[in-house]
Amino acid sequence: MNYENILAEKDNGIGLITINRPTKLNALNRATILELNEAFTAFNTDKAVKVIIVTGSGEKAFVAGADIAEFADFNEEEGEKLAALGQELLFDLVQNLGTPVIAAINGFALGGGLELAMAAHFRVASDNAKMGLPEVSLGVIPGYGGTQRLPQLVGKGRAMEMIMTAGMANAEEAKTYGLVNHVVPQAELIDFCKGIAAKIMKNSSVAIANAIKAINANYEDGVNGYNTEIRAFGESFGTADFKEGTTAFLEKRKAEFPGE
Ligand code: COA
Repeated sequence: MNYENILAEKDNGIGLITINRPTKLNALNRATILELNEAFTAFNTDKAVKVIIVTGSGEKAFVAGADIAEFADFNEEEGEKLAALGQELLFDLVQNLGTPVIAAINGFALGGGLELAMAAHFRVASDNAKMGLPEVSLGVIPGYGGTQRLPQLVGKGRAMEMIMTAGMANAEEAKTYGLVNHVVPQAELIDFCKGIAAKIMKNSSVAIANAIKAINANYEDGVNGYNTEIRAFGESFGTADFKEGTTAFLEKRKAEFPGE
């Protein structure tokens, strides 16, 4: 598949999506969001893809936010639509994918960029990364889930401060906050993420998809996460991966999961 604003490559079970508008610091315009929707959906339905890594092109930015030039003239109605459509097409999609998504934050992750990274299942940052939700400095608020996901990851008080000050956290600070799991030199970022992906790929992809669903259930209004877990746990017993995993253990060999 050819895209204009992103690159999507598949190699050894890993789908690598690179947002590719380096002259605009990979800002998310509408066309990029639509292409990301297509690429994430395609990788998620491709059985050969076990883990997705999303990153930005160039050495400066993961994504420096939603494309400010595109919404500068919007009215209230258009603003609301922008947030609703973006959340549906990209941010909620990524959060709820059954395929694990790692955000490899290779520089600025601001506004929609940090919101995309937070929608991913976990984050790894390069040592030059800077992260923040600076929307109030533009007279708006985060609109791609930032007011919800940042407090979930860093706690309410820290999120309040980050959003109110429109400040940026550096990579080490972000790690202390729990916003990113690891900080590595920029040149090693993608290989480091591929290393984590390799560990994930040894396990049952069906069980992982169910685990993602159960973990996410904790953050859904009106959903009892424990009940979601109980159901998903039960469902595991009907999968070929469960048969293989338990049989391999008892036979003292490595499991070869069919992913079904
Ligand atoms: N939307 C649209 N264009 C953006 C952008 C965004 N969010 N972020 C950067 N760009 C563009 C700049 O307009 C500039 O384009 P130009 O060369 O055509 O003028 C180009 O990317 C390079 O950015 P520049 O600001 O010159 O780089 P810098 O190194 O001086 O500063 C940042 C880097 C990230 C601090 C700065 O670009 C910035 O503050 N960006 C906006 C961040 C933001 O508020 N995001 C939230 C949006 S809701």
